[in-house]
Amino acid sequence: MENEAKKKVLSCIQPSGMLTLGNYLGALKNWKNMQEEFDCTFAVADLHAITVRQEPAKLRSQIYSTYALMLALGLDPEESTLFIQSHVPAHSQLSWLLSCYTQFGEMSRMTQFKDKSAKHADNVNVGLFSYPVLMAADILLYKPDFVPVGADQKQHLEIARDIAERFNGIYGDVFTVPDPYIPKIGARVMSLQDPTKKMSKSDENLNAWVAILDTPDDIMRKFKRAVTDSEAKVCIGEEKHGINNLIGIYSAITGKTSDEITAEFEGKGYGDFKLAVGEAVAEELRPIREKYDCIIKDKAALEALYREGAEKAGYVARKTLNKAMKKVGFVL
Ligand code: TRP
Repeated sequence: MENEAKKKVLSCIQPSGMLTLGNYLGALKNWKNMQEEFDCTFAVADLHAITVRQEPAKLRSQIYSTYALMLALGLDPEESTLFIQSHVPAHSQLSWLLSCYTQFGEMSRMTQFKDKSAKHADNVNVGLFSYPVLMAADILLYKPDFVPVGADQKQHLEIARDIAERFNGIYGDVFTVPDPYIPKIGARVMSLQDPTKKMSKSDENLNAWVAILDTPDDIMRKFKRAVTDSEAKVCIGEEKHGINNLIGIYSAITGKTSDEITAEFEGKGYGDFKLAVGEAVAEELRPIREKYDCIIKDKAALEALYREGAEKAGYVARKTLNKAMKKVGFVL
């Protein structure tokens, strides 16, 4: 009963190995906070992962670990629906349907496609091209009101909305047209070594990024080495990319405003500030890592949860898929 009144949210994350503090503060921490207010569906987007070449054993272990991490973050399989995308065949099925209502031209304009095909010039596969259609299927199957996405996925969400409107325009009210969800808190976390660049796990400089599962020692070391400036004043400034970033991180974790943070470190040096940010991050992530270590050891329990999640998701997804298929004229 209670769930019927709640608005629906859906999001997915790719099983791309080490998730970073950027993924955490930019997305995952919000997922946890949204659980109370919304009826949430979250998935590990494993089908999306193979648009670039993956090593099978590694992919498998990353799917497990991403699912385990969702649980460790406090996403609750009783409260929300947590599943692995490839376990619900409706995603692939609706994706085919929708691809016939999506124009070649609009897919060609996707900036991520252009970037990725330049980066993987030896493997510009059709999946990489039609990836936004699969993402549209992920979304539209669950009729969410909101989809939390980062800036890099906004264009894909726009396309999902366009496809939904187009389909509804032909066949009537089949899909809900979702809105982007802008989180109340959220930080765009930058590299600790080059704070003009986004924090990325593919950065060769290992001090530039923090993994959600890093140990407190590693986290402290990385923050101690974080690049700052020579002004020695903890405040937001146009040219103070490093300090701006640290203030953003500290603020996202403690909930303090930048003015409060400036007041807190008045008269103190960057050394003290970096230690404080490092400690705040280490303490925030410590319980997640401890919980993760426990969960990942029990494969049987993990399997029971993702099977159950797929069943719950599958039920909803099949209903939407069937409706769409019927509208198009298939025999059910
Ligand atoms: N494409 C998203 C990313 O790479 C992941 C994703 C797949 C997604 N399906 C989705 C996000 C549906 C939101 C909704 O980050």
